Formats: sequence, structure tokens, C-alpha cells
Amino acid sequence: MKRLFALSALVICTSVGAQTVRIGVVNTFSGPQASFGEMTDRAFKLYHKLHEKELPPGVKLEFLSRDDGGPNPDKARQLAQELIVRDRVQLLAGVAFTPNAMAMAPVATEAKIPLILTNAGTSVVTTRSPYIARFSFTIWQSCVPLGEWAAKKFKRAYTLVSDYAPGHDAETAFGQGFKSGGGELIGSVRVPLQNPDFAPYMQRVKDAKPDALMVFIPAGKTATSVLKTFSDLGLAAAGIKLIGPGDITTDEELPNMGDVALGVLTVHHYSAAATRPQNKAFVEAWKKEYGAASTPNFAAVAAWDAMDAIFQVVTAQKGNIDAERTMELLKVYRNADSPRGPIAIDPETRDIVQNQYLREVRKVGGQLANVELETVATAVKDPWKEMQKKK
Ligand code: PHB
Repeated sequence: MKRLFALSALVICTSVGAQTVRIGVVNTFSGPQASFGEMTDRAFKLYHKLHEKELPPGVKLEFLSRDDGGPNPDKARQLAQELIVRDRVQLLAGVAFTPNAMAMAPVATEAKIPLILTNAGTSVVTTRSPYIARFSFTIWQSCVPLGEWAAKKFKRAYTLVSDYAPGHDAETAFGQGFKSGGGELIGSVRVPLQNPDFAPYMQRVKDAKPDALMVFIPAGKTATSVLKTFSDLGLAAAGIKLIGPGDITTDEELPNMGDVALGVLTVHHYSAAATRPQNKAFVEAWKKEYGAASTPNFAAVAAWDAMDAIFQVVTAQKGNIDAERTMELLKVYRNADSPRGPIAIDPETRDIVQNQYLREVRKVGGQLANVELETVATAVKDPWKEMQKKK
């Protein structure tokens, strides 16, 4: 048995070669949030295909993707351990769900393997390991500006969020922004994370007659059920405005939502419909590769930018990945030309710094799109961490 292990390890080493960097991707490839896995993988592969020739001679990247099946922290931890111990990955990337990222954080710390997040937006996540850098967003980053903007438009708001860490962040961050702008929060409700039936909750909201309902749920198919229930129960017809972070109108689900999405207002860092030239080029390359019916979403742009950073750290180290050096490089990563606008990693927190845009779902050329109306906040650092510093 021992000899067999030694032999297989040797085969791996010789077939892969010293200059191949192995990247373990843990993400959600099945269930209602399967779009996270698909979007992330597509973005990684497209970036790799278009830029592979820029890697130093002889240096190659190998991706090993694993499905965590949704918010399953134990499974995510186990996959991360296997990728490190058995598959000998030098980097970990991906992770849609916060509970999974929280479970993987101690594994990254113990093994000293950088974990490059392409989603998982609860503020606290990056504090759980010095080996985490986040290329996605924080919920606080969109929900504070959303609340501040909403206070200028609406007097009374209600919140409805998934009952887990990102939902709690959304509720608190929106509440803080909305109240600081003079708005009144008249109610809040938390719904189960998995397979929620929104109807009874939406009915409660309708009866309370707020001017606006702020919703956070994980993007994907769940967003479409929110939109449909909101419309079916007559909340829109009763004059209640649906608002939220961009998760509720995630770009790839808009065709499934149909016209009930029209007029929904959101604040977020990325829209596939953004007209800046860097985004037009990104979306064009995407559609050329994956077909006109596929549209990149915010998980895709996070993975695209994360892969740009991975290329930089791999190139700087000529394929010989050192964890400490990798983290030093990731901490000073910046890109003025991301499809989402200028971005940087905050060296203090290892969280992304980016703009927030107000968007409205409108029809553009006959297709539903998150049309960016204005930049409501620029170069936003995670507001939750900024607040902790002042305490
Ligand atoms: C998260 O679990 O952190 C999460 C998942 C889906 C989203 C946003 C955040 O759309």
C-alpha cells in the first residue's frame, strides 16, 4: 500500500512538472445557486484561454473544480482538505457561500494556502484567515449606499433577508444607511435560506404598506422566485417598490424573470449592461466564447478579476508559489480597467475596494438589463471594517 502511494505521488510530480500551478476551486455547481459554479468556471477558463501565452515560458495552470452543492460548510471544508492533502493544490479559489468560506478559512491558515474568494460576501469572512483575499464584494459595501440612497426616495421601508450571515449583514447595513438618511424602518423579516416559500412573508409585508421593500437572498434561481412572488401577490400593484443589492436582479436570471423585473432598483458593483469600454470588451469576449444567450454576472466578473490577480502572482514568482509572497502581492493588487470599473485590494483588510452603481431593470434592445443610472459611491472600502476601526 505504502509503495502504491509513493508511486502515485511520483506519477503526479513527473506528469505535472515543477512549473504547473495547481488551483483548487470549491464552488456551487448544483442546486438553485448552480450559476455561481458555472459563471466562475467560465470566467476562469476564458481569462486563461485569452491570456495563457502571457505566462512565463514553461509555466502552466491546472484547475481542479469541486462541487460543494450549496451552503454546506462541512462538505466545503472536506473538499478543501482533500484538494490540499491529496491533490496538492498551491492555491484555493471560488466559494459562493459564506458558511463554506468560514469553514475553509482555518484549513487555509493551517496549510498556509492562499484562498482567493470570488463570492462569499459577509464582512467578517476575511478576518478568519490571513490567507484570504476577496475579489468579490461585501454585502455592507452595497447595502449602506443602498440605504442612504433609498432614504432620499422613500419614507418607510421593510426588509426581507435570508436567515444567515449575509442576510443579517444586509439587514443591518441597509438599516444603518436608511436610518442615517432619515428613513423609518417599519419591519424586518428573515426567511429560511433553503427552499423558502416567500408568499406568507410577502403577504405580511404587503399588509404593513411600506414605500419600499429591501430584499437580500443569494443570487440564482431564488432571485426569480422573489420577483415572481412579489408580483403575484400584488405588492408592485399596491405601490411598494422592490429594492436591494444586485443579487435580486442577477444578470443571468433576467430572461427567466420576465417583465416583472422591470423597474426594480438595485445598488451593486457590476452589471453586464454597463457601457464602459472595458465591460463591453469583456461581455463581447464572453458571448463569443459561450454564445449570445449566456451573460456574465457579478460572480463572473469576480472570477475574471481574481484570475487576473492569479496570473500576476504566478508570473511574479515564475510559477513557484510561496504563500507569504502571494499574499503580499495580492494585498497590493489594483486594476484601473476591470469591467466593473477601478478596483483595488485594501492591504489592511484584504477586501476589494470598488464603486457602487445605482441600476434599474429596463429593456435594452428588447432584452432586460440592469441599466447603470449613476455611481452612488466611489472606491468603497468595506464599511463594516471601517466601523470596527473607529470602535
Ligand atoms: C454568501 O453566502 O456570502 C452569498 C451568497 C450568494 C450571494 C451573495 C452572498 O448572492
